[in-house]
Amino acid sequence: MSPASRPSSSSVSSSLGYRHRHLLGIEGLSADEIGALLDLSESYVAQSRGDSKKTALMRGLTVINLFFETSTRTRTSFELAGKRQGADVINMSVAWSSIKKGETLIDTAMTLNAMHPDVLIVRHPESGAVKLLSEKVNCAVINAGDGSHEHPTQALLDALTIRRRRGGLKGLAVAICGDILHSRVARSNIHLLTALGAEVRVVAPPTLLPAAIEGLGATPFFNMREALEGCDIVMMLRLQTERMHGSYVPSTREYFHFYGLDREKLAAAKPDALIMHPGPMNRGVEIDSEVADDIDRSLIRAQVEMGVAVRMACLDMLTRDLRHNDTQAGAS
Ligand code: CP
Repeated sequence: MSPASRPSSSSVSSSLGYRHRHLLGIEGLSADEIGALLDLSESYVAQSRGDSKKTALMRGLTVINLFFETSTRTRTSFELAGKRQGADVINMSVAWSSIKKGETLIDTAMTLNAMHPDVLIVRHPESGAVKLLSEKVNCAVINAGDGSHEHPTQALLDALTIRRRRGGLKGLAVAICGDILHSRVARSNIHLLTALGAEVRVVAPPTLLPAAIEGLGATPFFNMREALEGCDIVMMLRLQTERMHGSYVPSTREYFHFYGLDREKLAAAKPDALIMHPGPMNRGVEIDSEVADDIDRSLIRAQVEMGVAVRMACLDMLTRDLRHNDTQAGAS
């Protein structure tokens, strides 16, 4: 199919409740669209746990992973997800690309676009860069994290993890703790959790808590114990030192004293409150090993498992029109 003849709207995926060509963020998605992606992810949890992990769903389609920032979980799980769906998956290493010779993001995107990929998965340090790139290419684009803006598949996998343990999100109190200022995970989660009817609290030192966060529907706290009082889920965040220009906390030791999750602070939450962290974790900075490794209450490993299922679902949803149109063309 030529780029010009690619469908501009998603007629087949919209029949499943998702009506966008790309997945650039959670902001703007309806509760039904989020629910459709989570429901589809459920089927891929079972498939990933079974003996037959691989399908031919995306046979003949090409997925390119284009990561301008480091990643362990997101890049690996997108690669696994694409391969389990039967796609050809290319991991483009920025360190060995012509970006190192000064090629711009847009020129790189247009170059890759000329090779007719079907899905581009992009992580970039600048907020808004993935949306800009999506406007220059003909294929579906998935945001794998842009600056401090959004990380939509992380929020989806977090929601799937919670939903499977608690049966739903409506009415749950979720405390998101740590470096809110620089966190795309926090932003995507606030959009998703509020859309699905959860109460969201955010807690951080004043230097790491943007005033605008209240406008997104989250209640701000500076005191960790007050924020955790009676909550169902405690979601910890890493200090994103790579985005900090200057000093935001006096020392990591003092930061852990006031904002690090340990047994004593966790006692303010509900007795069965669950612990989450998107990774990578800095043990002893934002979370104590004793709570991170608590097999009864920590969902951190489950989050990683759900990441593959959610990414398989996103690839499925965003290529439905393409597969549908190709099937029709083959039949005519
Ligand atoms: N949670 C997350 O995005 O992890 P990676 O940076 O390892 O992909």
